[in-house]
Amino acid sequence: MSRIIPELWWYRLLGLGYRWARAGLVAAERLRTSWTHEVFDYETIVERGDRWLSQLRKQGPDWLTRASIGNVSPTQVYDLTFPSPLTVAAFQSNQEILKLWLDLGAGGVILKTILPAPCPGNPRPRLAALPRNGSLAFVNALGLPGPGIDIFLEQLDPALFAYGRPVGFSLGGNSPEDYIRNVEKVCRWSSEHSQPSVFLELNISCPNTPEGQNLSLHPRVLGETLSQIDSLWPGVVSVKLSPDAPDDLLHRLADQCSRLKKPVLNAGNTRRVFVRELGLTGKQFVPATGGLSGPPLKSRTLELIRTLHGHGFPLIATGGLETATDVREALDSGATLVGMATGLVKNMYLLPAVNRDLAHA
Ligand SMILES: Cc1cc2nc3c(=O)[nH]c(=O)nc-3n(C[C@H](O)[C@H](O)[C@H](O)COP(=O)(O)O)c2cc1C
Repeated sequence: MSRIIPELWWYRLLGLGYRWARAGLVAAERLRTSWTHEVFDYETIVERGDRWLSQLRKQGPDWLTRASIGNVSPTQVYDLTFPSPLTVAAFQSNQEILKLWLDLGAGGVILKTILPAPCPGNPRPRLAALPRNGSLAFVNALGLPGPGIDIFLEQLDPALFAYGRPVGFSLGGNSPEDYIRNVEKVCRWSSEHSQPSVFLELNISCPNTPEGQNLSLHPRVLGETLSQIDSLWPGVVSVKLSPDAPDDLLHRLADQCSRLKKPVLNAGNTRRVFVRELGLTGKQFVPATGGLSGPPLKSRTLELIRTLHGHGFPLIATGGLETATDVREALDSGATLVGMATGLVKNMYLLPAVNRDLAHA
């Protein structure tokens, strides 16, 4: 196909088709729920879309679901090699979809944040898509739903590691002990499975659980927790920071990360918003607050990268980066890697399109 249409345009065309298909799915669900008087829930559409995409990955033609990374320069982060700087940020728990994104050229993935114990998350609806300046932003208050670390580790698909690309385990908690308990369990799993390209990410910036940002508010406690984690885990540890944190706090948190042997800073998470101020009613979105993601985050993400650059740690730029221009701006501002979430839900062909662009830069 790419002999007729240059590869970059081919993936832009596929991206257009993907976006139309998703818009059609949303319109059909809106019609159905208004007909049946059921509540419209965007999460249902994402889940249904993910089921179809995993079928497509298994049974569809390769030209729809596979793309080489091409001539993109690999990025070295300590002993981890990312064949492309484009990574999947922590948000997706469906491992079939993570494999699809690796097939399409993600340089690495970070698994959705896991808590020590099973958690149902917040009541639904808790995910919404909002038109913002000609683009779509998301607001979510999922609240870290998941099966808890034990079942999570049991259910890990070995195929996810067969790509040889870095896989991050995002760990959450309500207290320092929660993080440490999670790290101990990953250490045990790691010694049993000897996967060389695994790293940790500490999610200390979740705005959607009552205690999810506690460590972000107390740099000294973060430092003590990091020292303990460092004595357990010999590899790379990324610390995910909040774009809502003021710059002086960010510097104090970053200073504490020097307690780690191989620190990475991820800037950043979603921005906390009051959803009623965005025009969402209690029927459309149950929790009162949520985390905003997508294009409105971009300027703060670039600001965070410039702010944190001086600490000398590798930086992941996450938040609102959805085009090749966004990615180049982040890398030029000092980011080592780029994390993507909302952009991948909106267009899975973003990865091959941006990789083609980076290869020709
Ligand atoms: C539906 C959804 C779920 C998310 N879940 C997590 C999570 O479990 N852990 C985490 O660290 N960040 C989570 N995030 C935040 C993303 O990883 C990312 O930091 C944020 O969305 C900004 O990037 P984006 O603008 O590319 O979406 C989630 C975001 C969305 C939209």
